[in-house]
Parts: sequence; C-alpha cells; structure tokens
Amino acid sequence: MAKDAIVSEETAKKFAKEKETPYTRWVKQEGLEIKDGIYQEDLNTIELKPWASRNGHGVFLNHDASRTSNDCYVCEIDPGEKLNPQRQLYEEMIMILSGRGSTEVWNEAGQKVSFEWQAGALFSIPLNTMHQHFNGSGTEKVRFVAVTNLPPIMNVYEDPDFIFNTPYDFKGRFSGEPDYFAPKEDVDGLMLLTNFVTDAVNLPLIEAKERGAGGGHIRFNLAKSSMNTHISQFPVGTYKKAHAHGPGAHVIILAGEGYSLMWPEGEEPKVYPWKPGTLITPPNMWFHQHFNTGTTPARYLAFKYEGVAIRNAQGVPKAWISRRVGGHQIDYADESQLVRTMFADALSEKGLESQMSDSYEAEKATLPPL
Ligand SMILES: [Fe+2]
Repeated sequence: MAKDAIVSEETAKKFAKEKETPYTRWVKQEGLEIKDGIYQEDLNTIELKPWASRNGHGVFLNHDASRTSNDCYVCEIDPGEKLNPQRQLYEEMIMILSGRGSTEVWNEAGQKVSFEWQAGALFSIPLNTMHQHFNGSGTEKVRFVAVTNLPPIMNVYEDPDFIFNTPYDFKGRFSGEPDYFAPKEDVDGLMLLTNFVTDAVNLPLIEAKERGAGGGHIRFNLAKSSMNTHISQFPVGTYKKAHAHGPGAHVIILAGEGYSLMWPEGEEPKVYPWKPGTLITPPNMWFHQHFNTGTTPARYLAFKYEGVAIRNAQGVPKAWISRRVGGHQIDYADESQLVRTMFADALSEKGLESQMSDSYEAEKATLPPL
C-alpha cells in the first residue's frame, strides 16, 4: 500500500496557514467542493453542486500537485439552458461526456465563431476569448470534463476580476478564423493538426510501438494551448509498459474495461479498476501501468500540462525511454513477476488469456543492454 506521509498534529499546525491558496479560496467562494482528483470511478455520475456564477452545476477535482500545475472540473448544463459567457486568462481543454450542444467563441475585435458538439467531442478554449456553452437539448443534460491551468494563474495574481475580466485579444491564438473549430485531418508525426475532435472514442489513431503492446496513439495541441492532449489505445489481452512522469496527466477512460496499477518507487502496486468515465491522475513520479481485461480494445484520453513533462536533450519525454538508459519507462523484460501474475489472474476470471507473448518477443529487438 502506498504510504500517505501523514505527520503529527503539531507539525501539521505549523503549515495550516499554507494549506489554503488563492485558488482553493476561489473554489470555495464559487460554492463548490474540491474532491480527490487522483482516482474517480465515474465522471458521468460524480455528484455536482449548483454553480450560480456559471448557471450550471460543478465539482472540482484536484490531484496532489494541483496547486502548481493543473486542475480538473466536471460541469453540467441543464436541458434548454446555457452557461453564462466567460473569458479567462488561463487555458482549458474540454471533453463532452454526455449530451449535445454548441459553443460560441468571440474576441474583443468582434470576431465570432460557433460550433456544435456531442458526447466524445474534444476542444480547447482559445486563451482569454469570450465563450459560451449551450445545451442543444430540451430534455437531456450536458455534462463535460475540463482540465485547466487556473491554479498557478490564480495563485500568482490572486485577483478573480483580473483573471476573468481583462479585455485583451491574444491574436496568435485566435483571430476569428471561420474554420477554427472545423475537424481537420492533417498529421505531423504523432500530432493531429486540429482544434476540434468530433468523436474521441472512434477517432483513427497512429501506430506507436514505443509504449508497448501494439498501441495506437495520437496527440493534439488544441487552440495552440501550452497544455497538451493525447489518446492511446491498446488491444484485448494486452497492457502498456509502466512509466513515471510529473504530476497532472488526467487519464480519462474512453472505451474498454480493465485496471491500472500505480505505485511510488519501492512500494507495492495498488489496483485501480476502470471503465468508460473513470479518471486516473498518477501522482508525481509514481509508476503507473494500464491493463486491458475486457473483450474490446481499451482507449483513454490524457489531458496534460506540458510544464510538468520531463524530456531528454532530444526533446523525447523520459516517460517514453527505457530505465536501462536513464528514462522513466520499465521494459517488459524488467517488470516484476507480480505484474504478470495479477494480469493472468484478472483475465482468467473472465475466461480470457494474455496476448502479450508477441510484445515481449518484439521488445527484445530494441531493448538496450543491461
Ligand atoms: Fe503516464
């Protein structure tokens, strides 16, 4: 079991004043709760509270390093309703969990675009643009999940009026391009050059062997945000390589069934089961590994904040590089026997078998020597 690093009351009291931040005070002023962002079983059913300033319902989810990186919130719009218009000096990535509707985005110059979306859509709000979300149904609710870099911004400026009410157009981010939110198909490396994804659940992916087990992958830089997004998929009976990186990668399961292991170096892995709608946010430098125990490919979305990635001198994330050469990824050849036993047990409960032997074999071709 992971140790939770709890200290004495006496020591805790010395830091009591520092526990709250301008960001946490702002969330409370909004009348909302902050829940644990490391693991939430189902974002589709997580309880929300009325959010008067936005004319919706919401809950904030904070991982252990949220005060310096990014946060997450879930928001609902009632049938026939719309959120209040808003502009903000921080970035925001959104995935629609359920329902359908539209968003209008405009700037101080008066340039305006609007686009429609439904469950599975992905987009980002261009920095400091005015925007408003509309529920397009008179009977169904809309629910979305968003990851933002509000916490460090709020903690620096400590002034909601400045953050939400400064008229300024970042013209390099958005200048009213009519096709800004049109889905596009051009690809550069692993990057899909688009600001809008119609259906993240069914989007075709690009082959990426580096993370193990016949994986598909695709990356986005929505609305030229400094935060980034990717989707990964892995086949039935397989699992990805374990790796570790900085905090703030919000992993949202899009399809399939399985579990993740998470553990800090030197401790026993803990099991976190998942299904579509589960959120997993691996803590700073904890190893984590995703296992498909279902009968369909497993797919997840990750919303990340680039500020916490660790890369080598070539610009490659260390989480993609073998520990044998100084990276933060555990090769299959080096993983604990426990990992394989647990996976075999979980599969056999469902009458399935591991399909990993080809991946173990294929790894040998590129495995750095010990
Ligand atoms: Fe990861």
